[in-house]
Amino acid sequence: MGYRYIGSKEKLSDIIIRTFKADCPDAHSVIDLMAGTGLFSKALRKEGYRVVASDMMSYSYHHLVVNLRLNTSPSFAGISNLFHRQGDSSDSYSNALAILNKLDPVEDYFHNEFSPEGKPKNGFKPRMYFTARNASKIDAIRLQIKDWYSRGLITDTEHSLLLHTLILSANDIANIAGTYGHYLSHFVQRALNPIVLQPVSFEPNANIDGHEIFKGFAEDLAPSLSGDICYIDPPYIKRQYAANYHILETLAREDKPEAVGESGLRPWRDQYSNFCSKLKIFDSFGKILSGIQCNEFYISYSSEGLIPIDKMVEYMAGYGSVDKQEIEYKRFKSHNDNSPEKVTEYLIHMTKA
Ligand SMILES: C[S@@+](CC[C@H](N)C(=O)[O-])C[C@H]1O[C@@H](n2cnc3c(N)ncnc32)[C@H](O)[C@@H]1O
Repeated sequence: MGYRYIGSKEKLSDIIIRTFKADCPDAHSVIDLMAGTGLFSKALRKEGYRVVASDMMSYSYHHLVVNLRLNTSPSFAGISNLFHRQGDSSDSYSNALAILNKLDPVEDYFHNEFSPEGKPKNGFKPRMYFTARNASKIDAIRLQIKDWYSRGLITDTEHSLLLHTLILSANDIANIAGTYGHYLSHFVQRALNPIVLQPVSFEPNANIDGHEIFKGFAEDLAPSLSGDICYIDPPYIKRQYAANYHILETLAREDKPEAVGESGLRPWRDQYSNFCSKLKIFDSFGKILSGIQCNEFYISYSSEGLIPIDKMVEYMAGYGSVDKQEIEYKRFKSHNDNSPEKVTEYLIHMTKA
C-alpha cells in the first residue's frame, strides 16, 4: 500500500530526527507544520516526541489522526451489530472493511467523472483515473462510510481511519504516473487490479496522548502553535498539491464537486499555496517564523527548489543564526520513468535570535 507524494520525507525521517536529537537533546515537542502524508509525524511519535501536526489538505488531516492518535484498531461499536453477518474475524476494523469490500458497485460520482464508462458533466471525454468497476466500488464505499458517519454510527477517529484506508487503497489502483494531475491514456496493470481495502497496521506501544492536529494554512495557524522544535517541509516547486492530489481531497471531503476541464480537477484555488510562488513565498515564511512560539526551526528544501538555496539561507539569517546540512539521496521520478535521479535535499537549522 503506497503513497507517491511529492516531497514525502518517509525515506529521510531517520536522518532528520537524528539531527534534531543531536542539536536539541532537551526538546520534547515538535511541530510538523506541513505534514502531508503524516509519515514524518508518525516517525516523530515513535521517537517519543509530542507532535503538533498540520497541513492545509483534508486528506492529510485523516492521515494524521491515524498516524498520531491510534495504536490499536478502534472498536467500531456502533456498527458491531452488522459484524455477525461477516463472521470471519474478531477484529472490528477488519470486519468493517469486509463489509465495505463486499458492497455492490454503485454508478455515482467517481464512475461518472473518473472512469471510461462515465459521462463527465462538463461534456469532456470520459476520464481514465480508475476502471469503471473500481470507480463504482469506490462510489459504493464512500457512500457507505458517509452514511455511517452522518448517522453517528462511527466515531470521528473511526471515520478518519476508514477514509485513510480508502485513500491508500485507491492510490494502489489509480491509473496515474505519480500524481492525479492527469490520468494515463491506457490502463496500466496496477490499475486493472480490483480495489480491496487492506487494513493498516498499528504500533501497540506508540504514545497516542497529547498530540495535536490542525487543518489549515500554516500562515493562519502560526500564532496558535508552540513547540520546542518547528519542522517546516514546504512545497519547493510550482506544482500545487491541491491540483495534483484533487481526487484524494475529494475522497477525504466526501463531496461531489464540479470536475473541471479535461483532468476533472475540483475547484482548488481556495487551497492555493503561496509556497509554490516565488513572489509570495517570503511573505508566508515571514508570518510563520514570526508567529509561531518556538526558537528552533528546521526547514527542508531541495536543490531543485523555486528559490536558490543561498537565497533561502540568507532570508532565514534575518531571523537568527543559521546552518545548513546537505542530504544527498536518490529519488524515483514516476511510475513511467523509474530511473533513479540524484537530488540534494537541504536541512536549514535556524535558532531564533
Ligand atoms: C513537501 S510536502 C510535505 C511532505 C511531508 N513532510 C511528508 O513526509 O509527507 C508539502 C506539504 O505542504 C502543504 N502545504 C503547502 N502550502 C501550505 C500552507 N500554506 N499551509 C499548510 N500546508 C501547506 C501541502 O499540502 C503538502 O502536504
